[in-house]
Amino acid sequence: MKNIIVTGSSRGIGLAIAQAFLAKGYKVLGTSTSGTSMLNEANFECFPLRLNDPESVTTFCDAIKNYSIDGIINNAAILLEDWSRTEVDLQQLRQTFEVNVFGTIDLTEHLLPLLNTGSRIINLSSGWGTFSESGFNAMVPHYKMSKTVLNMYTKLLAKRLESRKIVVSAVNPGWVQTDMGGGGAPVKPQEVGKQIINLFEKNTKSGHLWYNGKISEW
Ligand SMILES: NC(=O)c1ccc[n+]([C@@H]2O[C@H](COP(=O)([O-])OP(=O)(O)OC[C@H]3O[C@@H](n4cnc5c(N)ncnc54)[C@H](OP(=O)(O)O)[C@@H]3O)[C@@H](O)[C@H]2O)c1
Repeated sequence: MKNIIVTGSSRGIGLAIAQAFLAKGYKVLGTSTSGTSMLNEANFECFPLRLNDPESVTTFCDAIKNYSIDGIINNAAILLEDWSRTEVDLQQLRQTFEVNVFGTIDLTEHLLPLLNTGSRIINLSSGWGTFSESGFNAMVPHYKMSKTVLNMYTKLLAKRLESRKIVVSAVNPGWVQTDMGGGGAPVKPQEVGKQIINLFEKNTKSGHLWYNGKISEW
């Protein structure tokens, strides 16, 4: 059985991704900040993980160190600012980077030794993190910058892991109906779950950003 880590599997896109993998017979190692989950499947385990707390990251990695890992879905993230905000608040920028950038990178680097040859790393990015976004505006600066860094990490990691045949990808899921995206978003989390499992099972091209099943501009 293949083992997949899905961070932030408690709700929203992460929950839908965990459910998609479980439905196809994978073992899912999920996380939430509290360590609890609404999922009750035999192939699911939930661990506490707070990406902004380095001790929590090492405790999580220690708890799963006996698994060999076939996939990491770096899904957990935060968006703190009002969507209309354009000013940079350094404290909020730091808080955002602690989770979306430093915590995500810290976790991934700790897990690299556990990854099997040919495994996959998928980073949940955003159109808001791209330089190519059409209709670009100055809003949501902290979140946007955090996803831009994640995109570059994706490219760097893809190069580093070429020899281990590990495929590293970033995904722009579109605007999705979750606590973060809000009720007015057009995309359902389940659609993203399907896209992620498709990418996981079929894609062999490393170091790209994907949108709706196709390679997209960074
Ligand atoms: N929704 C959209 O429109 C949209 C668009 C583009 C990209 N994305 C990206 O898609 C991913 C999922 O977004 P979503 O909309 O599903 O978000 P969400 O509904 O806000 O869920 C966020 C998830 O991240 C976890 N989390 C929050 N703070 C954390 C921390 N400090 N440490 C570890 N985990 C933490 C939450 O766990 P708890 O339940 O324990 O708090 C939850 O499981 C994110 O990377 C987001 O940036 C979303």
